[in-house]
This record gives sequence, C-alpha cells and structure tokens, in this order.
Amino acid sequence: MDYPLSVLLTYAALVVWFGLLVYGVKQRRFGPFLIFGIGFLLVLNVRYFVEGAPASIAFFVGIYDVLDNLGIAAGEGAAALASCPDNACSVWGDRYLTHPSWGVAFYDRFLNGPELRTTLLYGHLGFNTIVFVLMHYQLLRTGHGGNAARHRMLGRVSFACLTIGTVCAVWLASEHGPVSEYGGPLSEYGFYFMSFCVYGCAVMGVAKIRGGDADAHRVWMFRFIGSMWGAFWLFRVMLFVLGPLLRDYEAAALLICIWFSAPLGILIGEGVRRYLDKRTTGVATETDRATTAA
Ligand code: HEM
Repeated sequence: MDYPLSVLLTYAALVVWFGLLVYGVKQRRFGPFLIFGIGFLLVLNVRYFVEGAPASIAFFVGIYDVLDNLGIAAGEGAAALASCPDNACSVWGDRYLTHPSWGVAFYDRFLNGPELRTTLLYGHLGFNTIVFVLMHYQLLRTGHGGNAARHRMLGRVSFACLTIGTVCAVWLASEHGPVSEYGGPLSEYGFYFMSFCVYGCAVMGVAKIRGGDADAHRVWMFRFIGSMWGAFWLFRVMLFVLGPLLRDYEAAALLICIWFSAPLGILIGEGVRRYLDKRTTGVATETDRATTAA
C-alpha cells in the first residue's frame, strides 16, 4: 500500500510546529513558531498554483482522512462521511473509502464547477496569502521613524489585496446555500460573518490611523492579525480535531470552524497585545525604579 508522502510530511511538520509552540510557551519566545506557521502556510497555498485546484484539494482532504476514519470499520459509515467516484477526492488511493463529506463536495465543486469558481478560489487564496505575509512585516517594521513611508505604502498594498481576497471569498460563499455538506445557508452566512470579522478589523485599523490615532491603529491591527491566523490556521487545526469527534453530525465540525475561528483569533490577538503591553510596561517600570534608585 502506498502512503502519500505529502500527507506524511504534513503530519511531521505539524509535530515540529507543536514542538515550537511548547518551546515558545516555556521560553516566552514565539518567533520560531510564527515563522514556521508562515512558511507552512506558503507551502500549502502555493501548491494550488503548481498542481491546480483538484489535486491540491485531494491532498487537503487526505490530511483529514486519517483522523476522520479512525475507528471506522470498512463498510461502516457516519453522517459526516461520504464516498466519491474512484476515491479521487483524496490522495490515499483505496486506503480510505469514505472521506469528510465537506471534502467530497469541495473536490466536486472545483473539479466539475465553472472556471470562474476556480478563478475566485485562486484570487481568494493568492491575495490572502500575500496579506498574511505582509501583515507580519508591517508588525515588525511599524510606521515609526524612517520607516513611515514604506509602512504606509505596504499598508495600502495589503489593504487592496485583502479587499480582493475577501470579495472572492464572499462570492464563493454566496454559492454555498445548496451545498448541504458545508451546512447550506449556515455556511454561507458563517463565511459572511468571518469576512466581517477579518475585514472589519482591517477597516477599523485604517480608519484609526487616518484619524491620527496610532495607538488605536495598533490595537485594531493586532486584532486583524489574530483574525487572519484564526481564519486560516485555527480553522484548519480545529477542523482536524473536531472532524472525528463530530462525525455523527453532518457539517457540525465545519460550521463550528466557520463561525468561531475568526472571532477566537481576534480574542487571541487581543490577548497577545495586552500581554506584550504589560511586559513592556513592566520592563519600563523596572527601568524607572532602577534609574530612581541610582
Ligand atoms: C476573510 C476570511 C476568510 C473567508 C471568509 C474565507 C472563505 C473561504 C471560502 C468560501 C473558501 C472556498 C470554499 C468553497 O467555496 O468550496 C475558502 C477556501 C480557502 N481559503 Fe479562505 N477564507 C478566509 C480567510 C483565508 C485566509 C486568511 C487564507 C490564507 C491566508 C485563506 C486561504 C484559503 C485556502 C487555501 C482555501 C482552500 C482550502 C485549503 O486548501 O485550505 N482563507 N476560504
């Protein structure tokens, strides 16, 4: 039996990444975890432009097949599992005969759908990937001092890319009503809500800096970055864990990810910002004390 190397490498990468998270929590250093997460995302998303949508979706479904089928006997089914013609919707060959039903629908939508749909998917993931990388650069090189002009220019480029990426996502979501494997209208409105969370934070961030309030701009941009991590990484990791737990309820795991990943990301972004502010204030207070004592 052949094992798909790409899926096995993805699992190995997830283990390394989890190790970096543990290291980060222990050492209070999250740089390696964040850099790995950005690189990992690039490898997964650039794949679409190299292999095309159906092959990349089959790989994506393959990542979920293992846990979703765990403990399921051959011939046994579950509400959130489905089969697809020739097992082509996953890279596991005949190893798994059932797959997450959202995955079967996802594959079919882009194998047999109109070309415009695939173009929208490429537009969505391409432009959002650019924003995902740029937003970290912006965080690292803030608009203070000599970097102001470049920060402003890259900020405008990012906002334009985010607008295109989000319009494509909303357009794709507007077709989800009849897709019961995604959760039908609940998926459609869930993706609108997700777009509102992500784009809303970005718009607030832009509005604040245009009003001259750099502190509030920073607050909203931390929330925006959190929402982007939520919409991409938290979404996919939650689905990995919830898929096997909720396989008796069709679309339940996917709907939870659609509705909760972005707001949870915002909460985490806000928590990280408060933690960093507290740490900086703590260091400043220590320095003040030392200076006064001297
Ligand atoms: C505004 C928040 C987001 C919304 C509303 C959203 C929505 C969507 C929708 C509707 C699909 C297509 C499902 C289909 O029509 O069958 C999709 C797929 C996808 N999205 Fe997003 N998305 C968001 C954020 C992101 C971000 C931040 C990234 C990457 C940086 C991203 C990357 C992808 C990728 C790669 C896929 C294909 C599935 C996969 O391989 O993971 N999305 N998204």
